[in-house]
Amino acid sequence: MATVLITGTNKGVGLELTKIYAARGDTVLAACRDPNAAEALNRVAGSVEVVGVTVGDNNSVAALASSLEGRAIDVLINNAGTSGPARDQQTTFAMDFEGWADAFNINTMAPVRMMQALMPNLRLSGAAKVMTVTSQMGALSLDMAAAHAYCATKAAVNKFMRLAALDLKKEGIAVGLVHPGWVKTDMGGPHADITPEESAAGCAAVTDGLSMENTGGFWKWNGEVHGW
Ligand SMILES: NC(=O)c1ccc[n+]([C@@H]2O[C@H](COP(=O)([O-])OP(=O)(O)OC[C@H]3O[C@@H](n4cnc5c(N)ncnc54)[C@H](OP(=O)(O)O)[C@@H]3O)[C@@H](O)[C@H]2O)c1
Repeated sequence: MATVLITGTNKGVGLELTKIYAARGDTVLAACRDPNAAEALNRVAGSVEVVGVTVGDNNSVAALASSLEGRAIDVLINNAGTSGPARDQQTTFAMDFEGWADAFNINTMAPVRMMQALMPNLRLSGAAKVMTVTSQMGALSLDMAAAHAYCATKAAVNKFMRLAALDLKKEGIAVGLVHPGWVKTDMGGPHADITPEESAAGCAAVTDGLSMENTGGFWKWNGEVHGW
């Protein structure tokens, strides 16, 4: 059975991913910022260890890594994400730069921060995978002029993880990106296309399919290859 660390597990796609891996019998290190407030997460059955971490903070991530020293992690899923500033404050004409920086920290830098801090744990696995939940809005091929700051944070994480896949090939660590769909969560809103359960099932299947043969890939939740 695998050990899977997932970020942003208190709600949305991350919570459903936690349920899926726990139901399979895997051990889930379910990361969120406030474990005491994560009521639904604390009720998930199975081998779930709820761990507190603020993925946007170097010291917090370092403390998590030190608490996990010596433990192999087979799958890291960088799922925590934010939509950034208010829609009318992330346009061509108006920008909340502080909010953009915060979104960049969470959506782009935190996945890298987590991957680097947990590299010793990933190496212990022998066949580790790093999957980052990105967005179609980070695809340069999608011309949808909305949420410019958010789009830029996801485009940046796509590029970084594509490069990381090259670097980690020689270590046998596979790196991938998945667009989870337009999902009925706090972020996606009630009118979105799919449920968090459907999205998470797809993202888990895509993660199952990630290997050294297709490392560096970008997929949709339904398994289709996503254009860059
Ligand atoms: N929903 C969609 O339609 C959609 C579409 C494309 C991509 N995505 C991506 O899918 C992933 C999951 O999103 P979701 O739809 O499940 O959204 P969600 O229900 O809003 O959950 C977002 C998760 O990220 C965490 N998070 C947000 N800001 C944070 C911060 N500053 N520091 C630490 N953690 C933070 C949240 O924790 P708190 O509760 O503590 O804030 C929560 O666990 C995200 O990466 C998102 O960009 C979603």
